[in-house]
Amino acid sequence: MVAVAVLAAGRGTRMRSNLPKVLHPLGGKSMLERVLDSCGLIQPSRYLIVVGYAAEEVKASLSHWENVEFILQEQQLGTGHAVQQLLPALQGSDEDVLVLNGDVPLLRQETLQQLLQTHQSNRNAATLLTAQLDNPQGYGRVFCDENNRVQEIIEDKDCTPEQKRNQRINAGIYCFNWNKLSKILPHLSAENKQQEYYLTDVFTSLSPVMAMDVADTQEIVGINHRKHLADAYRILQERIKEQWLLAGVTLVDADSITIDDTVELSPDVVIEPQTHLRGKTVVASGCRLGPGSLIENSQLAEDVSVFYSVLTDSTVETGTRVGPYAHLRGNVNVGAGCRVGNFVEMKNTQLGNGSNTSHLSYLGDATLGEQVNIGAGTITANYDGQQKHQTHIGSGCKTGSNSVLVAPVTLGNDVTVAAGSVVTDDVPSDALVIARSRQIVKPGWRLNSDQ
Ligand code: UD1
Ligand code: CA
Repeated sequence: MVAVAVLAAGRGTRMRSNLPKVLHPLGGKSMLERVLDSCGLIQPSRYLIVVGYAAEEVKASLSHWENVEFILQEQQLGTGHAVQQLLPALQGSDEDVLVLNGDVPLLRQETLQQLLQTHQSNRNAATLLTAQLDNPQGYGRVFCDENNRVQEIIEDKDCTPEQKRNQRINAGIYCFNWNKLSKILPHLSAENKQQEYYLTDVFTSLSPVMAMDVADTQEIVGINHRKHLADAYRILQERIKEQWLLAGVTLVDADSITIDDTVELSPDVVIEPQTHLRGKTVVASGCRLGPGSLIENSQLAEDVSVFYSVLTDSTVETGTRVGPYAHLRGNVNVGAGCRVGNFVEMKNTQLGNGSNTSHLSYLGDATLGEQVNIGAGTITANYDGQQKHQTHIGSGCKTGSNSVLVAPVTLGNDVTVAAGSVVTDDVPSDALVIARSRQIVKPGWRLNSDQ
């Protein structure tokens, strides 16, 4: 069995942010969550998260994770000091402990599994993930003997110019025999450029220590400032898009599209330029999304099209066309074969199958039956200045242009609302409602005439 420890106590000063570094979002999840996700294949016995800066915020962000324990590092005196805080929790443990920096969010699950296997099959005291980088600046450099056993790690800031030329870097991902590590940890010193207790100092006292070079160096990008975060986002997007392209999704002008990795797509989905899919969005086969759309936490059934529109927290059934310029937000459910578009906003509203709301409408806190036709400019007046109220519109209703339905109000089935009406009272089924003043025509009338 293996326990996982994640170092997440630092503020991340170089991010220049009030938000703790590990909570910065990267494609729909925090960096810290991504680090935990990367342990999926190794199934750890427990997760120990070292928290410090904004500890409560970090804890709250993982409230939906099970098996997670938090260890407080009150002062952040370095990565070695952070791991020292684990001593009480892991006292007497004969497990291996995987120590992960909380700011290395792009690791693949397979890589961690391989690291653990290498560690266990060689019975190492420690095994660490390394990479050969063209630009190793900022990372600790890993020095090995002729048998590829790690001798020492020297932090970038402590390297001589000669040592800086070593391109083999420490990724900040380690597997330790806890029993051996725990004997060395209490003896770290902070005599270095940064006056910190470095975890990397333990390697001079441990043996054997093996380094495992990662094949894809993009996996071990450590995030220290926002440029790194932007680079990591780009890498993540490339990964996600490649996966969907190979799974049969068409991306038109892929560079202009962004997709969170929490999104699920099906074969024969077409995504047009400048379209962004976020959160728990699920898209069925045959959908055409974009150009110019933002879809978040929404579920789209087969053959839905969305054109220059924004959808959040909504569902759309088969064959419905949305847009251009529609905004669906906060629990909207649109049935099959509907048409929603041209400057229509819907909020907390259900629209039955085969219904249309094609032009210039606001439908809020409403339920509409099937085969309803909402005329151009129809508004549900759902707010009386203090409270929201419901509007119910039965199947087969037709509202005339520019009608206002003042909630709470119910229209039965097959009601026709005359254009320009302000409907304040319920209307029974099979009725025409005209709620406006009659037109008055005064023949021959002229301004300033004697009449
Ligand atoms: C660290 C490594 C470096 C490696 C690099 C990889 C050390 C001394 N150096 O450097 O060799 O190349 O990562 O990205 O370990 N943290 C705490 N408590 C602390 C200090 C840090 O929990 O007191 C956490 C931070 O929140 C962060 C992680 O440890 O998640 C790494 O800390 P950071 O300061 O970014 O280390 P680097 O200088 O990048
Ligand atoms: Ca770092």
